[in-house]
Amino acid sequence: MAKIIVQGGVPLRGTLRVQGSKNAALPILAACVLVSGVCELENCPDLSDVCAAVRILRHLGCVVTRAGDRLTVDARAVIRAAIPDDLMREMRSSIVFLGSVLARTGRASLCTPGGCDIGMRPIDLHLSSLYALGARIHTENGALRCFAPGGLCGTELCLPFPSVGATENILLASATAKGTTLLRGAAREPEIDDLICFLNACGARIRTTGAGTILITGVPALHGCRHRVIPDRIAAVTYMTAVGTAGGDVTLTDTAPAHYLSVIRVLERAGCRIAFENDRLRIQSEGRLCAVPRIRTLPYPGFPTDAQAAVMALLATAKGVSVIEETIFENRFHHVRALRRMGADIAVNGRTARVKGVRRLRGAAVAAGDLRAGAALIVAGLGADGETVIDDVHHIDRGYEKIEACLQTLGARIERSADSGSTEPEQQYPLRLVPLQRG
Ligand code: UD1
Repeated sequence: MAKIIVQGGVPLRGTLRVQGSKNAALPILAACVLVSGVCELENCPDLSDVCAAVRILRHLGCVVTRAGDRLTVDARAVIRAAIPDDLMREMRSSIVFLGSVLARTGRASLCTPGGCDIGMRPIDLHLSSLYALGARIHTENGALRCFAPGGLCGTELCLPFPSVGATENILLASATAKGTTLLRGAAREPEIDDLICFLNACGARIRTTGAGTILITGVPALHGCRHRVIPDRIAAVTYMTAVGTAGGDVTLTDTAPAHYLSVIRVLERAGCRIAFENDRLRIQSEGRLCAVPRIRTLPYPGFPTDAQAAVMALLATAKGVSVIEETIFENRFHHVRALRRMGADIAVNGRTARVKGVRRLRGAAVAAGDLRAGAALIVAGLGADGETVIDDVHHIDRGYEKIEACLQTLGARIERSADSGSTEPEQQYPLRLVPLQRG
């Protein structure tokens, strides 16, 4: 299996274009199922999760082609309503196909995604909302069968927690339902706005009528459109933490700083110098950063749980004590063990991590426990002394487009190697696998 190898201690400099948003692209791809026409999606990142969504679309009967960052989805001939387990299990967020397949075909048959490394991830809010919209749902041994033979009907819904995925499924199920749906307590993430923007470009009638309230007036059918996916805010934040940790001066382009102001504030507080205008952001970091007393992950516009791991990696060497509370997922501290192996001083008590900054981290052999934990280890490795070898990089490939190539353009000494079988993550100081390119 491939590994990523990082030689730390090299400041990052230059300009980097930020990829399109994974978490916006995935529900938009699911939304294409609703459209009896052709949709062109620009700025669609080339990632393994997007490839998994494309495989589902093709299985359902869509014709999907890619040219550069443009995906074309022709969903005129959707013929299937069942998604096989192996395709569902490739990507947990494939549950977002439930709403669109049900709305398009009147039925949907798929397996429940189950728990994952970062927590139980139940789908009760998805199912109860679809039920309220008229779906009849049977679950048996992890198999989920939904029917709405007479079509779905708009209704009033209130989510007790602003689940991103449940909000997306409600939007997909109600865009072509009969009547009007009023959703309160909806998620407010930028990716939700992008899905609404896409659906409206296809002829839907959806408007947000206040914080967390969405009014969806069902339309009989949707038509094709061209849409540009928003920039990936978590990828942007990851590259910013890399600069904060390794030091340097980097400008991000094709980014939307307004989507991650909560993280910008935290990084400024830690001592990074940040300036932004329109779709560009410049971050400068030199010397040792300082701790941030308290960070709490929260639904948007609060501090994003997806940025928690990378920011913890940055704070691992910041002067003083930082406290990070994870309120969204129950098991999202996978990176702590690996950061400790690199010399970090982090104590976890339930959902709270106390990070006492050490002067330097040292390279080690570690494994990516999940997508954002893996990216955090790259961030840590870029600022560490010596070599960090990161295993299980398929997790990282789910969400980052050519992450090592992006960092190389900034001068980082990072590369990917095929496994030679010589290094185990347990080793404190692994052997070097391949010579790194210098300069
Ligand atoms: C999405 C993002 C993920 C991000 C998360 C929170 C995608 C593909 N993924 O995941 O990167 O970390 O939002 O911002 O966009 N919950 C329930 N019942 C439900 C649904 C959710 O209890 O029916 C709970 C979850 O277990 C979790 C919390 O709500 O504790 C947040 O989940 P949710 O907002 O739904 O996240 P996802 O859509 O899965």
